[in-house]
Amino acid sequence: MNDAELIEAQIRSLIAQMTLAEKIGQMQQVNASSDHVPEYLRDELCAGRIGSVLNQVDVDIVNELQRIAVEDSRLGIPLLVGRDVIHGFKTVLPIPLGQAATWNPHAIAEGARLAAREAASTGVNWTFAPMLDISRDPRWGRIAESLGEDPYLAGKLGVAMVDGFQGDDMDDAGSIAACAKHFAGYGASESGRDYATTNIPENELRNVYLQPFHTAVDAGVASIMTSFSDLNGVPATANEFLLRQVLREEWTFDGFVVSDWDSIRQLSVHGLTANDKDSALEAVTAGVDLEMEGDAYRNHLVPLVEEGRLDMELVDKAVENILRSKFRLGLFDDPYTQPDALPAMADEPAMAVARMIALQSIVMLKNDQDVLPLSVDTLKSLAVIGPLADAAHQQLGTWVFDGDPAQSITGLKAIRELVGEDVDIRYQRVLETSRSKDKTQFEEAVGLATNSDVVIVFLGEEAILSGEAHSRADIGLPGAQVELVEKLRNTGKPVIAVILAGRPLTLSDVVDKVDAILFAWHPGTMGGPAIADLLFGVESPSGKLPVTFPRLVGQIPIYYNQKNTGKPPTPDTTVNIDDINARAPQTSLGMTCFHLDVAYTPLFAFGHGLSYTGFDYSNIRTSASEIRMGEALTISADLVNSGEIAAEEVVQLYVRDLVANVTRPVRELKGFTRVKIQPGQRVTVEFQLHTDELAFYGRNQKKMIEVGDFHVWIGGSSETMLRTEFRIVSKPCDGAV
Ligand code: NOJ
Repeated sequence: MNDAELIEAQIRSLIAQMTLAEKIGQMQQVNASSDHVPEYLRDELCAGRIGSVLNQVDVDIVNELQRIAVEDSRLGIPLLVGRDVIHGFKTVLPIPLGQAATWNPHAIAEGARLAAREAASTGVNWTFAPMLDISRDPRWGRIAESLGEDPYLAGKLGVAMVDGFQGDDMDDAGSIAACAKHFAGYGASESGRDYATTNIPENELRNVYLQPFHTAVDAGVASIMTSFSDLNGVPATANEFLLRQVLREEWTFDGFVVSDWDSIRQLSVHGLTANDKDSALEAVTAGVDLEMEGDAYRNHLVPLVEEGRLDMELVDKAVENILRSKFRLGLFDDPYTQPDALPAMADEPAMAVARMIALQSIVMLKNDQDVLPLSVDTLKSLAVIGPLADAAHQQLGTWVFDGDPAQSITGLKAIRELVGEDVDIRYQRVLETSRSKDKTQFEEAVGLATNSDVVIVFLGEEAILSGEAHSRADIGLPGAQVELVEKLRNTGKPVIAVILAGRPLTLSDVVDKVDAILFAWHPGTMGGPAIADLLFGVESPSGKLPVTFPRLVGQIPIYYNQKNTGKPPTPDTTVNIDDINARAPQTSLGMTCFHLDVAYTPLFAFGHGLSYTGFDYSNIRTSASEIRMGEALTISADLVNSGEIAAEEVVQLYVRDLVANVTRPVRELKGFTRVKIQPGQRVTVEFQLHTDELAFYGRNQKKMIEVGDFHVWIGGSSETMLRTEFRIVSKPCDGAV
């Protein structure tokens, strides 16, 4: 018997011994966040009525909970211990959207490994990450927790996170089970309001929203969490199409499915069911194995089976899925945690990883006249201004249950450390929070700026303005920040904006009033040193946007991989609403897909990000002009570092399928790689593209690859114009690779 067969045999033997109540117990997760083991929890564990807990990170308490489950219950089944380890644990990493801006799977895997090790040393064995929801709406607060708008990028980076959390083997010390969430469609909530309804046609669902989940399932993610939201009329937590047809039948997923917090009971709030009992029946029938913090399963599954409304086979399947993961985690061999077996938390190596990820995540959006990097040698004085320059808590971002702001190094502190005594740093917060409208300190700030060589203004939004249930309708800089920038601008001094935020912001009001922008997301514990290193050119910026930045909220949803439409706008499509003659003929403004009052382009495109050096791309070519179905093609381009410093560049590959069974996006990311290039060096960057990677779901909702013509681009953003083409043919042909 191999290991997998042995596990299946052990599962069958356990299930054969379990009472119905014990089976339902395995399907129950409860909140165990108190500072001791309460009596009721002890009793429930002894009776085998709980299979999992969440939110307990005191290792002694966790070990005691495991001891009761294993030693004091009849069958001795260990517990899954869950926690939101989303972007670090004690050492806080950049928010996931920031991590995605690294476009670096290796860095992301290293960060997840670090977080897993820290969490595992408290007894946590399961995290609720990665979040793989595609979102094209930056109003949605949870975009902070996402890996951006692109299914290919989110899939690759999500797998890197899964690999980091789960390690080579889930039962290794320092490995924890991952959870791909929220299945599915959560990121498409109407108007970006969290938990709002989602309506996604099946073809769009399959080609965009499900794709990163499929990638994660293929990579072995241990669990899946359902979405809170209503998807096409059936809330995800009761959606049999998603949970049985797609996940189990088509993708053959053999891990377990957990509801979101109380989302089973909420089925009646949605109006799908009349009461909790029906909600429990709908959820278990659809395929939810484990209920997170709710009592629908606990109260109703036993009677539902006894009344003959619920088939025992469905219960057994759910329990099998949960037990399988407990075996894979090695919990039956040893459920206890010895923290000393793992490295100390937030130690120097951990801080180095956090700093490296923060450094690669920061995106330089603009840098007029090469105002950056600053030089310690020539600078005499620097005004550091703004509500987020010295905000230890805010830079940590949305999910920081276990992080400690006292360990944060802020931008102000790091700048001071980096420049030492050589530069006179004058700091003024000016606005108490990002939302303050009190301008009483503006005059003083202007004085400070006027008497300094350069102004660095730290702008953005606090951590609390993004994340779960924290959506915004206006995603501009809040409070009096825009006016502050205007005042600083009027001093005539170079103004550099460092922006900390949990989402893309609409920056049209300030983009022309500052000389440079570093967009730092919420960069985590080591955000400050990363920012300082970039400001002073110790390192060159290399982050690239994983999400499109709109000019105005009215452009949302705006994303690079849109469809062409029958009337696409062109570079000639420009109009200024103020200049429109009200009597002009209806067709005189052009009849294309655009708004009258804003350009059809974004403010900053997906994939955009500047460097302190120049990267010149040329000579894109393919290894053959035609490839046969089932084969691969090499696409390459030359890249020269035309500047004077060594720097990293994220090279991106996009394709367009020109004619297809269903319309395809104008561009789709199909490859990316981070390369370091020395000044003056020329490198050739190569991508292998297999025809399987050009597959899509067609009109019949089946995956297909078609013969035909493709455009392909290589460059440093989704706006690259460096293009060639190739053709897929069905028969053998000359020159195929
Ligand atoms: C609700 C959130 O939607 C989910 O992502 C999270 O993992 C759970 N709460 C547990 O905290």
